[in-house]
Formats: sequence, C-alpha cells, structure tokens
Amino acid sequence: MRKDPKVTLKSRVLEILEENRGKSISGNKIASSLGITRSAVWKAVMQLRDDGYIISAVTNRGYCLSSDNDLLSEPAVRTLLRTYEFGRKMDVFKSIDSTNNFAKKLADIGTPNGHTVIAEIQTQGKGRLGRQFHSPGGQGIYMSVVVRPDLTIRQSSNITACSAVAVCEAIEDVTGLSCGIKWVNDIYISDRKVCGILTEASLNIEQGYLDYAVIGIGINVNNLTFPPELEDKATSLRLEKGETIHRSLLCAEVLNRLETHINNMSDASFMDEYRRRSILDGRDILLEKDDGIYSVHCIGIDPEGRLLVRYENGREEAVLNGSVTLIK
Ligand code: BTN
Repeated sequence: MRKDPKVTLKSRVLEILEENRGKSISGNKIASSLGITRSAVWKAVMQLRDDGYIISAVTNRGYCLSSDNDLLSEPAVRTLLRTYEFGRKMDVFKSIDSTNNFAKKLADIGTPNGHTVIAEIQTQGKGRLGRQFHSPGGQGIYMSVVVRPDLTIRQSSNITACSAVAVCEAIEDVTGLSCGIKWVNDIYISDRKVCGILTEASLNIEQGYLDYAVIGIGINVNNLTFPPELEDKATSLRLEKGETIHRSLLCAEVLNRLETHINNMSDASFMDEYRRRSILDGRDILLEKDDGIYSVHCIGIDPEGRLLVRYENGREEAVLNGSVTLIK
C-alpha cells in the first residue's frame, strides 16, 4: 500500500474499482488489499457516489464501477499510465481558469518533468493568438504537461508539432478515428477541429536552450453541441464515433504517447509523421500573418515544420508563424 499521505482512502478505493471497471469486486477483497475494514470501503464508496461515480453494490458480488462512468480522476488516469515521468505527478481540478496558467506557475517554482494538470472545466481556457478555448464541463479534456527536454531553442519550436502527432496517435488508438493536422496546432477530423494545442515556453536565451515548456491540450471528447460560432467548425470524438469516449483512458494514452515522442524529439523523426498528416497540402487557404490576411495555395510543410505557400502573384514562401483558415 502506498504511503503518500496525499493519496486518500477514497482515491485508493477508486483506483481498485477503475482497475476492475465494469466488473464486480467484493468489499472484502478491496478491504484486504488496502489493509482497511469493509465499512471503510463502504464509506469510501458512498463518498465516490457523492462525487458522481456510478457504483453498484450487489449482495454476494460486491461493488462495480459502471463502464459508462466518465468522470476524469487521478486514479482512473493513473491506472492506465505506462509512463516513467509524464502524469506521475498530477493535479486534477473540478474547475480552474486555465490549466496552462497553473502549470506555468508550477514550472516556475521547479516542478519536475511530466507534472500534469487536468481540469473538468476551464473558466478562461486559452487558445493561440489570444483566442479563447471553449472548455465546457464534463465533456472535454483540458490538460497541461510541464516538460523539460534537453532541446535548443530552435528544436523546441517544434514541440507543438511533436505533441500534435502524439495526440493524433492517442485518439486513433482509443477511438479508431483517423486524425489530420491543420498547421500548426489543430487536430481535425472530417474537416472540423477536434483538438487544439497551445505550447508556452520559458527560454534560456543566453545559453540558447529551452528551460521548460507547458504543453496545453484541449480535446472535444463527448460534446454533443457547440455554441453557434463553433457549430460549423468544430466536432467531437463522440459526434464522429457515435459513442461516448472514456476520457480518462484517452488522457492516459495522450500522456503515454507524449512522453515517448517528446523524449525522442531531438531526432526529428516525428516531423515525417506531422507532414504526412497535414490536411492543407494542395488546398487554397486563408493565411493570416502579422502584416495581413492572404489567399494562398498550400504546397506542403517543409522538414523544419514551416508552411510552404504560393501567393496569387506566384511568389512562394516558407511561413514560420501564422494562422490558417480553410476555404470550404
Ligand atoms: C488553440 O486551439 O488555439 C489551442 C487550444 C489549447 C487549449 C488547451 S486546453 C488546456 C490548456 N489550457 C489552456 O488554457 N489552453 C490549453
């Protein structure tokens, strides 16, 4: 039994129920594996029910956490991790302004590589370029991971691209849906956005190295509706798949994939996969840059992760920063 005082009895009981999700396990068995009484197990189950977990109790069979249960919780994610560092330190909030803001504060005071912040609701979810990220409760995944890879400033500019590949693979693993990437940070299914990534970094300019980065990932998972301004641009995994997606499983899978990809980032092999997944190649798009909005043709993405475009006057450019809108 773990001795960490922050791990409550309730979360230990939940961990066991999660390991047996959809199956019954006797109160006796839970009690003896945790070294507690059956009535302590019962008390923890009651508290978990108060938190919203659907747990049935059947005489002679024991307790069963319903497989439809979709609350995000640390024990649920933890039992599904295969990582060394990512998610091994984790904070899960019911509500927070922005998981990126909280993770940056942790990073500034030296929290280790892989510390993960997850929330059920974000009241001020942030997107790129000062935009808001729609973060309603109980539907999406809003998570931020503090990472400290040994990368030069130049290499670290591709952390978002590397993370996008990891998230695509995780979504495909869990749902079987195919994902594409809209340069630079959006994941798309059927020409609609299902996930956005916002990476915020602290750089050691003098030495030319990354100090830390916070990778913020927002996924539309079980949303059935979107506000009018997103209705024709966004989709969710549930809408695409036609069934509820297990969010804790997806969270864990994102962390599993992300750790592997970020640890291997210096060999840049993720870039082939990033380029292969681009949904923009060969399409006419609107490109917003610092100096204006242009109608351009996308030729592809170069090995450095820059968007290759052709302007209406025939001039070609490799674009490092900007934002793209699809012309449908
Ligand atoms: C975008 O679409 O431009 C990026 C969206 C990134 C959203 C995620 S949700 C978790 C993390 N916290 C934030 O405030 N933003 C990121």
